[in-house]
Amino acid sequence: MSTCPKCYRDLKDYGGYKNKMNHQGVSMTDIWTDIPPVRHSKYKGRKDANELSIKLLDRVIEMSSVKGDVIFDPFGGSGTTYIVAELKDRKWEGIELGPTDDIITRFDNLSFEKNNLQRYRDKYNSLFSSKVKVKRIQNNLWTAESVRDK
Ligand SMILES: C[S@@+](CC[C@H](N)C(=O)[O-])C[C@H]1O[C@@H](n2cnc3c(N)ncnc32)[C@H](O)[C@@H]1O
Repeated sequence: MSTCPKCYRDLKDYGGYKNKMNHQGVSMTDIWTDIPPVRHSKYKGRKDANELSIKLLDRVIEMSSVKGDVIFDPFGGSGTTYIVAELKDRKWEGIELGPTDDIITRFDNLSFEKNNLQRYRDKYNSLFSSKVKVKRIQNNLWTAESVRDK
């Protein structure tokens, strides 16, 4: 859920129906604003390419396929689709016009990619991050637990 970075209050008004919300998460919207572009070189597989976030591919692949399905991305780039497909037990196929060395290097460091993906997944299925939750409790604001227990 979106909260104010300073006061930790809700940015949206749920019209008094907060207790009807799924405490495990809010519904996915058509526009995703929680996935920043990959800019930091530490996380970039290919320095000069427009690289998609593993968080984006994790979501897309999770929503549209099950284990064992084949994922096809004809614009390989730095190979994010293939990495995430591999980590999620999908088969995958791809095409890339440019050099593929960076994709191969990423596969050589799959545990690094796995850890990055896990960092995102650890934050899934909760309305607030642990930091925001603590701040909201301190500020007497509602949390999933306080609403559910009413
Ligand atoms: C935006 S990048 C893809 C990013 C990639 N999905 C990722 O997350 O890393 C687009 C890639 O498509 C490749 N490309 C463009 N036209 C292509 C074509 N006709 N066939 C294969 N690859 C192509 C480019 O070389 C570029 O690396």
